[in-house]
Amino acid sequence: MATSLQASPAEIQVQHTQCFIDGQWQEAASGKTFATINPATEELIAEVAEGDTEDVDRAARAARRAFDSGDWPKMDARDRGRLMYLLADRIEREIDELAALETLDNGKPIRESRHVDLPLVVDVLRYYAGYADKIHGSTIPIRGNYFCYTRREPVGVAGQIIPWNFPMLMTAWKWGPALAAGCTIVMKPAEQTPLTCLRMAQLAKEVGFPDGVINVVPGFGPTAGAAVVKHPMIDKVAFTGEHRTAQIITRDSAETLKRLTFELGGKSPNVVYADADLDAAAQGAYLGLYLNQGQCCCAGSRLFVEASAHEAFMEKLTGLAKNRKLGDPFAEDTEQGPQVDRNQFDKIMSYIEKGQQEGARCVTGGQRHGERGYFVQPTIFDAVEDDMAIAQDEIFGPVLSVLKFEDTERMIERANRTFYGLAAAIWTRDVHKAHDFAARVRAGTVWVNCYDVFDAAAPFGGFKMSGYGRELGEEGLKAYTESKTVTVAL
Ligand code: NAI
Ligand code: MG
Repeated sequence: MATSLQASPAEIQVQHTQCFIDGQWQEAASGKTFATINPATEELIAEVAEGDTEDVDRAARAARRAFDSGDWPKMDARDRGRLMYLLADRIEREIDELAALETLDNGKPIRESRHVDLPLVVDVLRYYAGYADKIHGSTIPIRGNYFCYTRREPVGVAGQIIPWNFPMLMTAWKWGPALAAGCTIVMKPAEQTPLTCLRMAQLAKEVGFPDGVINVVPGFGPTAGAAVVKHPMIDKVAFTGEHRTAQIITRDSAETLKRLTFELGGKSPNVVYADADLDAAAQGAYLGLYLNQGQCCCAGSRLFVEASAHEAFMEKLTGLAKNRKLGDPFAEDTEQGPQVDRNQFDKIMSYIEKGQQEGARCVTGGQRHGERGYFVQPTIFDAVEDDMAIAQDEIFGPVLSVLKFEDTERMIERANRTFYGLAAAIWTRDVHKAHDFAARVRAGTVWVNCYDVFDAAAPFGGFKMSGYGRELGEEGLKAYTESKTVTVAL
């Protein structure tokens, strides 16, 4: 029966650990498995099928068949949308179980899985379900006696490779537009967090998605992931993760010239002016960085504070960070759980050490929390300089770098001094400053007096090395379509 929010990990049933190919659950062809770990306890949750080239090949063939000769792309678009609504409804009915499974595998606090991730999953699927029957081309007046029009057709088989920070939400961001457009899917979830994506595949099967439309192959990046990228039957790869991985994917996809969309990392500037509502700004800076254990691509990890407000602001911000409640992610009042795995934990701890060596001032945190699980104290470095590693590199953990500024022109130049360009935010009561910054910062998303406001309808993605293309909204849908021009002599 339903797992309550207070479920202990032992009560959570892991039902699916195999590859999901052509509507069937199957072991990896090699028979190999890998461990998925509970990051709060460092204990094994389950062994999962370790998919590789042969499994991806089976999945790609199934997806190709479902696309080329199956009902899916030919189905009335409204019926395709209906199936997507059914999937959203089904997820909503199992929201408590899915949230618990997400928390178990990823470590994020149950109140976030339950009240942030899962509702957004349902919302994004419904948003795109409504789009299924609203995808259309246009008529174009060309020279001569012709009738010219465009058709928006599905791109074909979509390969989708996602990270571990929002496992189910990233699944929904990828499946939503692909399914609405009429594509079929080969998905490779992150090796750290495969469980909820596999569960979603089963729910899709149960609500009636045809075999082969959704295929999920768990496994590692350089094997299963690379096989998706190289497979000649896959038309497109949508990837979220590290920019270095995207560089490998770009090279590996060159042979088959796949369409690529990338949503990569960031070192997003969050700017606080002295004229801002400092309480709201402190709250925004705090959540903008610490949400999801700091494991957000759009984390506001470079905090620029106007010098005249620095002291007052730091007091508020440090107070919030010091009071953040770390611990058992299944406890209702926990605000911060563990980092996702040992690698991420080690990477974050090494950046904390680097920050100290580089001469930044650690004003709170800086240590591991507890002895078991990958917990890191909420950490703030003050007096950070632009060229320090902690101001340049994506740390992807609860480590905030604070930089002071006085002059607006210089600040904008400094804010843009990064090869990333995912997000930015500004806190001010001055509309001129706000819009001027919004126009001049090189980032795909700008928040004014808010942070991390996401909506299925609002496009999201990066400038510069933070990505190609956009997800969500109409732009996210178009990335799963090809445009075809038809010209008819009259
Ligand atoms: P990653 O980019 O290696 O992994 C993301 C996904 O790509 C996983 O499913 C992985 O299996 C797959 N992958 C890895 N190598 C691949 C390859 N050669 N071909 C195809 N797929 C491949 O990211 P990782 O190692 O989990 O995290 C490293 C750093 O990346 C983090 O510390 C963080 O800075 C950044 N990152 C950014 C994310 C974002 O949302 N923008 C999400 C996750 C990580
Ligand atoms: Mg990696």
